[in-house]
Amino acid sequence: MNQKSLFIALEGIDGSGTSTHSHLLKGFLESKGFKVHLTTEPTKSDIGNLVRNYLKDKNIPPATDALLFATDRNLHYHNEIKKKLEEGYIVISDRYLESSIVYQSSQSDEITVEWVIEINKFVAQPDITIILDIEPKTALARKEEKEEDFEKFEDDSFLDKVRELYISRANQEGYFVVNSDDIIEFVQEKIQKIILDKL
Ligand code: TYD
Repeated sequence: MNQKSLFIALEGIDGSGTSTHSHLLKGFLESKGFKVHLTTEPTKSDIGNLVRNYLKDKNIPPATDALLFATDRNLHYHNEIKKKLEEGYIVISDRYLESSIVYQSSQSDEITVEWVIEINKFVAQPDITIILDIEPKTALARKEEKEEDFEKFEDDSFLDKVRELYISRANQEGYFVVNSDDIIEFVQEKIQKIILDKL
């Protein structure tokens, strides 16, 4: 098979299934003979671990979150994603730039979409962004942890804002939107079809 690199980002609110579908998509593309690199944000780097710890802390200023997510991504793109794309891999990122745009700008009126784009301007855009769309209440009900253990973004009124912005950004930027409130296999089939059309 003539492998060409492709950079895919799976996005959506917490509990929308980005991790499940990233793994399933990797398996599917590998079964078709493609070389696939699956990665995730926040990453497992020191900065990624720091941001992950801050997900439990409501006292972190939103701009600190935005700058740290951007730093984590800068390292992620230049030291990992770019290299894998150059080696001809299909790279699937479970969350990427669009997460920062919608989550961080929903955190505070002082954080604009334009500023988040600006601080992330040294990384490339994915070739395909797919938004997994689901109602926050349904998504949060899928979470296994107890409500008191939820991270600071796992709140349904906050996620309503995030979801709305994902959808308006998708309309504006031409991202694919897949309803993820359905049987996993059906949702995955829709994702696979989008990718196969592109390949
Ligand atoms: P998530 O992807 O749901 O991982 P896990 O299932 O391990 O909790 O959690 C990451 C959280 O970080 C999620 O709430 C979205 C948020 N986030 C941002 O706010 N900005 C970003 O740039 C990224 C990558 C994630």
